[in-house]
Amino acid sequence: MAHQQQSRAGHIVDAEYLKQIEGARRDLHHLLQNNKKFAPIVLRLAFHDAGTYDAKTKTGGVNGSIRNELNNPPNGGIKNAIDFCEQVKVKHPKVTYADLYQLAGVVAVEVTGGPVIPFIPGRPDALDQQDRGDLPNPNGGSQHLKDIFYRMGLNNRDIVVLSGAHTLGRAHKDISGFDGPFTKDPLKFDNSYYVNLRKGETPGLVQFPTDKVLAEDPDFRKYVQLMKRSSLHTTRTHTRRCQSSGFTQGTHAATLRKPERKRKKKQLVDGEYLKEIERARRDFRALISANQCAPSMLRLAWHDAGTYDAKTKTGGPNGSIRTKYEMEHRANRGLKTAVALCEEIKAKHPKITYADLYQLAGVVAVEVTGGPTIDFVPGRVDSTESPEEGRLPNADLGAAHLREVFYRMGFTDKDIVALSGGHTLGEAHKETSGYEGPWTKDPMKFDNSYYVELLNGERRGLLKLPTDKALVEDPRFRRYVELYAKDEDAFFRDYAESHKKLSELGFNPPMPWRKIVSKAALGVIVSVTVIILYELNKNE
Ligand code: HEM
Ligand code: HEM
Repeated sequence: MAHQQQSRAGHIVDAEYLKQIEGARRDLHHLLQNNKKFAPIVLRLAFHDAGTYDAKTKTGGVNGSIRNELNNPPNGGIKNAIDFCEQVKVKHPKVTYADLYQLAGVVAVEVTGGPVIPFIPGRPDALDQQDRGDLPNPNGGSQHLKDIFYRMGLNNRDIVVLSGAHTLGRAHKDISGFDGPFTKDPLKFDNSYYVNLRKGETPGLVQFPTDKVLAEDPDFRKYVQLMKRSSLHTTRTHTRRCQSSGFTQGTHAATLRKPERKRKKKQLVDGEYLKEIERARRDFRALISANQCAPSMLRLAWHDAGTYDAKTKTGGPNGSIRTKYEMEHRANRGLKTAVALCEEIKAKHPKITYADLYQLAGVVAVEVTGGPTIDFVPGRVDSTESPEEGRLPNADLGAAHLREVFYRMGFTDKDIVALSGGHTLGEAHKETSGYEGPWTKDPMKFDNSYYVELLNGERRGLLKLPTDKALVEDPRFRRYVELYAKDEDAFFRDYAESHKKLSELGFNPPMPWRKIVSKAALGVIVSVTVIILYELNKNE
């Protein structure tokens, strides 16, 4: 793996570089989330930088050189994506173009509801324009595709899997001569591209000759059939590729099977449950961005969990918030829409408990708005036993009240300040709580601005609840506010830890499951698409 990697160009991936990569990832997330229409062209940019690779001569490939190759006709339209990425390059100048474009491709897949793709940094930029191999021509046939992709060292299965990127975006008459989208929802990364290929021509949708041959040539057709049945096959295929990037499929398969044999009682979380969780995670990403409802999803997760009482072991993340009684608690006003939206995901994945579903929603809400990735362990059991009203904090009160409520759940002062950072998202509504307005200037971006604004004091148009102000006034809280205001990385680290704690109050997954889940997550999240692309010339 590339953590202290010395590359050809003498470029070193050190701690500072990794920090800038994380910063760039967050910015890309935020930018693409708010400008989704750029996701397809950004993914195309990643492909076109990579797709010039020639495995024999080891030229071309992921080296950022595409920014000097915009006159090459297949690169029509890509300048927009280059300019888009430039906004991020300016803020994180250490990040190479080669890494930036591939990272942008990874994030584009993620924000449109596709798989999470592990990203390994360290690609050096080419110093001058490189000899390059041709990119595929949409009017080519089966042999043309094979010529081009075999040249890169890829195989028939890779050709079919990678072409699935045409689930996103469209063709433009002035660029390629073709016109129209490839699928009905060109901003959603799913397997509909393959479903359409099997259906044949559909009015209003474009299929290039190179797309059509995938359904015609028997070397390709079997993979199209596989992908059509379930996009999960894509990820399963990917584990094979993981080996080449340091992840071992062997351990994954072995750990998945062993404990299943050992457990006598029927276990909620088995292989199928984990797959459903991954599918639901993807659906949540798409749903939350389509409805712009990250703040209320996060609030829902917090309000289901935040009733926990460590002494009596009652309340907590158990899905009970959906009951009529608990929904009518004063503190839960305004959460009906979030519950109803989760119901859409529940209908598609009925196996998943409400308790898991709401916490998954919270984790995804933070992620898609540019916040930290929070470890999610499934297995919470549902309850319809609601705690009495009054366990959630009252915004009119101060530091003593905050401590009383949060200590009851087993939290520390640091947790209180870190979790209050959830108010970086969203806003208060007069009809819901009597308060009004957002806490930060960009309430759809998860960052440390909540703390910066707390220290700025009163600002026109920005809200501070009495409980928010208490964090600045109480010296033991204040030191964390100051830390998080100046160090966003520290905030993200602590937030991810406290949020995980919140999401697991009263929930103790058996130890072996913790292991399985994290290993399985590795297996499941790995996507060959970009791994193949961005690994193309890593080994030079
Ligand atoms: C298999 C051979 C491929 C051919 C012949 C091909 C060709 C094309 C063409 C002609 C367009 C339309 C350009 C326009 O008119 O604007 C297009 C769009 C696109 N391609 Fe491909 N492509 C191939 C593979 C791939 C791969 C492997 C990826 C990424 C992994 C990819 C990602 C995209 C995306 C996302 C768009 C939409 C861009 C937009 O909406 O502006 N393509 N491709
Ligand atoms: C520290 C004690 C807390 C108090 C007193 C509090 C109180 C409130 C209040 C009064 C609102 C406005 C509701 C409305 O009018 O719509 C709100 C919104 C919100 N809260 Fe908290 N909260 C606290 C902690 C948290 C925590 C720990 C999180 C998550 C980690 C969180 C996440 C949110 C979010 C995201 C919103 C915005 C919802 C939207 O835009 O619809 N809060 N909170």
